[in-house]
Amino acid sequence: ADKPQAHTPLSGKRALVTSGPTHEPIDPVRYIANRSSGKQGHAIAEALARLGAAVTLVSGPTRLPDPPGCAVVAIETAREMLAACEAALPVDIAVCAAAVADWRVAGTSDRKLKKDGGGPPSLSLTENPDILATLSQAGPRRPALVIGFAAETGDVVAYATAKRARKGCDWIVANDVSLGTTTFGGADNTVHVIRADGAEAWPTMGKDAVGARLAEAIAAHFQTPTP
Ligand code: CTP
Ligand code: CA
Repeated sequence: ADKPQAHTPLSGKRALVTSGPTHEPIDPVRYIANRSSGKQGHAIAEALARLGAAVTLVSGPTRLPDPPGCAVVAIETAREMLAACEAALPVDIAVCAAAVADWRVAGTSDRKLKKDGGGPPSLSLTENPDILATLSQAGPRRPALVIGFAAETGDVVAYATAKRARKGCDWIVANDVSLGTTTFGGADNTVHVIRADGAEAWPTMGKDAVGARLAEAIAAHFQTPTP
């Protein structure tokens, strides 16, 4: 019997996916982090690879196995994530699904902070680089298709539409985190996909299914570019 033809519409395309949280050090033993599991980003990387793309997955610390078929670059901080993303260029597709820490500790200590009787230390924070905005505004090195994520509550589509314009990316996948369906750490996701021509509501589905459907939408875009 003939084997079914492999469905690889993205063969020949290079993709970069960010996933997971970042860890921002305070001192050699402590850090600031967030609850991102990396499930959605890893699912997208795996789905793009399954469609034939050459995928680099740049990920912060997660408990997940490396998705099959992807080159995985493990990083901890936002600045390391940016450097790894820049090293992965040029790519055709960039999907920024990581929960990048907005701030890092300014003037981290080389030594463990001690209870020295002087009361708790105060941490001062400084802003991290914005990886999605940097990739979106990378001039001649800009990927042809740049996709960001946005976790929002309230008027999710309006906030995500504004975020799309602010970042300069092509599409935004907006999570409605006000719904009972958990996003951080959960298996399911409820998203709207915002493009230049408007927003599309997707039904609640597993993060693997969101990854598969997004990868198919990306493949369709390169077949017939949509706005
Ligand atoms: N992002 C990024 N680098 C950052 C912050 C965010 O690449 N330093 C990306 C995320 O991966 C996501 C998108 O930007 O794709 C939106 O992240 P979000 O936290 O929703 O946006 P912010 O601009 O940080 O705005 P907010 O104040 O709502 O957190
Ligand atoms: Ca943020």
